[in-house]
Amino acid sequence: MKEKKLSPAAIVIFGAKGDLTRRKLIPALYNLFLTNHLPEVFTILCVDYLPVQPEEFKNDLLAGVNLFSRSGKADAAVWAKFAAQLTYIQGDFMQAETFTLLKQDLEKFEQPHIRKGIRVFYYAVSPRFIEPISDALYKQKICSKPNLHRIVIEKPFGSDLKSAQSLNRFLCKRFAEKQLYRIDHYLGKETVQNILAFRFANHVFEPLWNSQFIDHVQISVVEQVTVGARGGYYDSSGAIRDMIQNHLLQLLCVIAMECPAKYDPETIRNAKAKVLQDIKIYKENEVFKDVVRGQYEDGTINNLPQAAYRSEEHVAADSDTETFVAARLLIDNKRWKGVPFFLRTGKALQRQASVIVIQFKESPHKIFKDDILPNRLIISIQPELEISLLFESKIPGLQMKLKPVEMDFTYKDAYTDDIPEAYETLLLDVLEGDATLFMRADQVEAAWKVVMPVINAWKKHPSRQLRFYEPGSWGPVAANKLLKPYAKDWILLPEEASAPAVLVKKA
Ligand code: BG6
Repeated sequence: MKEKKLSPAAIVIFGAKGDLTRRKLIPALYNLFLTNHLPEVFTILCVDYLPVQPEEFKNDLLAGVNLFSRSGKADAAVWAKFAAQLTYIQGDFMQAETFTLLKQDLEKFEQPHIRKGIRVFYYAVSPRFIEPISDALYKQKICSKPNLHRIVIEKPFGSDLKSAQSLNRFLCKRFAEKQLYRIDHYLGKETVQNILAFRFANHVFEPLWNSQFIDHVQISVVEQVTVGARGGYYDSSGAIRDMIQNHLLQLLCVIAMECPAKYDPETIRNAKAKVLQDIKIYKENEVFKDVVRGQYEDGTINNLPQAAYRSEEHVAADSDTETFVAARLLIDNKRWKGVPFFLRTGKALQRQASVIVIQFKESPHKIFKDDILPNRLIISIQPELEISLLFESKIPGLQMKLKPVEMDFTYKDAYTDDIPEAYETLLLDVLEGDATLFMRADQVEAAWKVVMPVINAWKKHPSRQLRFYEPGSWGPVAANKLLKPYAKDWILLPEEASAPAVLVKKA
């Protein structure tokens, strides 16, 4: 986290009564306040349409902090000071009066002494409100200073390439690109940011980071949680839009990007955008060969009954929406020629884990009799926070026998487990005007271009190769077959990677 004196700021949250505000935004802002990272002078204006008493509203947010904050239950005195800066504004996002009221509150906050006040407008709303809110902010000149006024937009950014392009055009007519912070919270995760440090501050890995030495890359973001109450949103989204188009492709960019000339927002975002542009676009027949989709049926997770996806609330009884995707991608450039990237994500799986595995090639020259496991680098993003390098070692004894062992870096041992939540990092970045970890218009569109052939092919053949899987499993078996002939299994833990059973010779 940066330590810089911040200008006074008004943070406006549209969708203040929503889940994101209660679970993520307010706990993140509270923790920033607790650790003295918020500006000395700030206000949080919370806008939503529901009638609610100010005290009731604050108590509900406090309950959210107590439940979800990484620092545990709120400190009563700190919360009281923080809560004094919270204001609830009841208003419909479709009505001009809501914005007139908001403008008055903003001016009241800024008028006495603030000349260069930052304004942050956080859209924690359903996508259908993005345009009306933006239009009202524009028409009433509430977000009119490009250097000071910023908008944060949650995903999903569009529902396909066309809608994302149209939304970008709409926003760019009203605001400067530098005012737009399209958020992908994966980029704010400490372990994801650390990949940049790992790759570009350590000279030892860079010479190996290419198709000459790397056999394949696996990126898994698997979840045990089910779709649950989010069926209304999820059924028209599915795992490809919910996770692959954004979080997994962003992880891929961080792993595959070229070394930027310097650490600055545009240079870094250019390097990431280039990766997306270089991904080989699927043809329709390749989609059914290279992408596996699945949906959970009924069963149990941790011995508790779990209903099938099709029986979840607000999900169509004959829905073909995928709750699992595994895909093989190629990046068509010199560095990555012929190196497959395997992406996997799904809900209702055995456990939660976000892990990247860099599988190096086998040594071209063998002098030992033992089967040698190729080196592997395992970057665990969550829930374990660690990086492990697997290498062969001699088993102590009188014979020359080898065994794979691990070299581990864990946050717990090297630093502490107490690391900022992604939303803390990202909110602070917005207050500071640092867009490095946010998506530019061209990045979002390039990511849509990658997934569009998949979306189109599935739309054309709705139930073709939709594979059902048991909740609590690792998804459809076909996802494992995709890995062949590179590996036998997906890897989530260093122990799994060192088990010789996963060593599979190339066909
Ligand atoms: C969100 C998706 O963007 O990311 C959710 O909409 C998913 O479906 C979540 O569960 C995963 O985020 P995290 O930080 O819990 O891994």
